[in-house]
Amino acid sequence: MTDERDEIRRRVDIVELVQAGGVTLRPYGKHWRGLCPFHQDKNPSFNVTSSTGRYRCWACGESGDVFTWVMKTQNLEFGDALKQLAKLAGVTLKHHSRQDPVQRQSHESAMEEAGQFFRDQFAKSSVASEYCRRRGLDDDVIKQWEIGYAPDVGEALAIHLQRRGFSLAECETLFLVSKDPTGGYFDKFRGRIMFPIRDERGLLVAFGGRIIGDANPKYINSGDTPIFRKSRVLYGLYQSKERVAKERVAVLCEGYVDVIACHRSGVKTALASLGTSLTEDQAKLLKRWVDKVVIFYDSDAAGQKAARKGIGILEAEGIQVRVALMPAGDDPDTLLRSQGPAAVARAVDEALQPLDYNLQALEKRLKPEQEEFWTEAIEILAECSNDLELLRYIDRLGGLYPGVRDVVSARTILRKQVAKARKVKRAPVGYDEEGSVRPTAPEPLPPLNSSEVILFCALVAPELRQAAWLFITRQMSILMTKSALDLAAAVAAAFPDAPPDGEIREWVHRVEPEEMCQFYCDTLSDIRGDNVSEEMLSDAIQSLRDHVEGQEVEIMKQGRTDDKDAQAIIERLKKLKPKHEKEKKDDLEGLF
Ligand code: UTP
Ligand code: MN
Repeated sequence: MTDERDEIRRRVDIVELVQAGGVTLRPYGKHWRGLCPFHQDKNPSFNVTSSTGRYRCWACGESGDVFTWVMKTQNLEFGDALKQLAKLAGVTLKHHSRQDPVQRQSHESAMEEAGQFFRDQFAKSSVASEYCRRRGLDDDVIKQWEIGYAPDVGEALAIHLQRRGFSLAECETLFLVSKDPTGGYFDKFRGRIMFPIRDERGLLVAFGGRIIGDANPKYINSGDTPIFRKSRVLYGLYQSKERVAKERVAVLCEGYVDVIACHRSGVKTALASLGTSLTEDQAKLLKRWVDKVVIFYDSDAAGQKAARKGIGILEAEGIQVRVALMPAGDDPDTLLRSQGPAAVARAVDEALQPLDYNLQALEKRLKPEQEEFWTEAIEILAECSNDLELLRYIDRLGGLYPGVRDVVSARTILRKQVAKARKVKRAPVGYDEEGSVRPTAPEPLPPLNSSEVILFCALVAPELRQAAWLFITRQMSILMTKSALDLAAAVAAAFPDAPPDGEIREWVHRVEPEEMCQFYCDTLSDIRGDNVSEEMLSDAIQSLRDHVEGQEVEIMKQGRTDDKDAQAIIERLKKLKPKHEKEKKDDLEGLF
């Protein structure tokens, strides 16, 4: 029983589920947010987080996961919610037979009928062809990729399918139509350019639909259906499989249009995951076809993050990975349009080894003086499986490490930290029904840094709140990350005399400005905060102290005592030391 539930939680994206329920969500950092459906909400207070699989409204306090969502929004018992979600996720519940072949056949013909309908509509629509022409998609491309158009009419496809004798209830399970409150059906895709998605055998299993113009959501993708699990299908594999099989290499993009842009540029091994980041199942599928993958994601921060995650997933399947670089702000499609096909092919040819790519991206974003730089550098180094290569990087990075007497000790520290991070990475794995290894958590989150630990203690751990709050209000400046400092300042300003008490929703509004309040709420819904302990708090405080003291040693050594940054650090230390002594006397002795 629990297995089935876990599998459903793993496969159903809470963000998509909430959106499918009619709630408009917009990305907000690592969360999504929108107006809360459980109370009369004027400002968006409803937070949904893919990585935790949970939603939470900080205004009315409603929270839960995919099961409670279905139960509460549709007024269902748990058993019925389970059945509905199992169907959506393509999970077979025990005591339920496998899908019968007749039904499967009928699903497949409904999908083909819809595909044909969209193509016919495309031929009739000047809006659609004009849009594609502007994006450089000519008739050959449209034919090859079977591009269609879903008209901007409420129920054009529903009417068409019904006339052709398809059951709309069945089409609803295929993510083609939805039921309205009066019992009628309307189209899921409206006013969109349609990209049919075929699995590697060529069966039309899903659609991706791009809005014409700038509205939200930009893309709608079929959710999981009885014939489609999006975590197991790759867009473009069907079209590129002969080349992919012959060359044993694939170029992995983020979007449909990017795949097409690569093919137009002569990179005919391009494919993409479907509106989500690459999954383990997709990597397994790839491994059947290729030995090497070139990741060709957007050059923005989200693309870099996705690339890093993708590297880990692909390498775990024994696939050799390289990452292609692009000018800032580009994706393969815009690169093709601004610099021509040769630039796309060149980017793929010149792709970098993962470690080089990750460190290069990190050095562009952060500076070695920042604590996050090292948190991330260590994570990146821990992913390196070649020891010689690793030593080469540690030698180079050792020279940048702040606050340590000499390069040799810096390297030793780095080596130890990397070794520790590697152990943590290798620890927990579970087995699924097929006996293959999978991580126990849906998406591993990076470990908390010291500043974050202290904040979590102050925000989400009632028993540690008092101690952490004291530290924050008295020694705030020692916090190393800018976001931690900003939040600490906002918390200290809202609660100058004592830490907040009682229900969160009663006092959270006092944290100002609004963005900070939101950041606070995001922090509250981060599951990593669930595990903070007294020991972690005191370690974190100690490690921040060591960091600041290390900087002092460095300043003295370099004789920099009159430069401005150095002065600031010395000031911080002066403030810190007497308090350190004083606090030893009071009842928080164990912690401070
Ligand atoms: P991008 O936002 O980078 O879009 O999302 P894109 O591929 O460059 O699209 P164009 O060029 O503006 O048309 C990358 C991919 O993420 C998924 C889609 O699969 C998209 O191709 N996505 C994006 C969604 O599923 N939903 C969205 O709202 C946005
Ligand atoms: Mn694009």
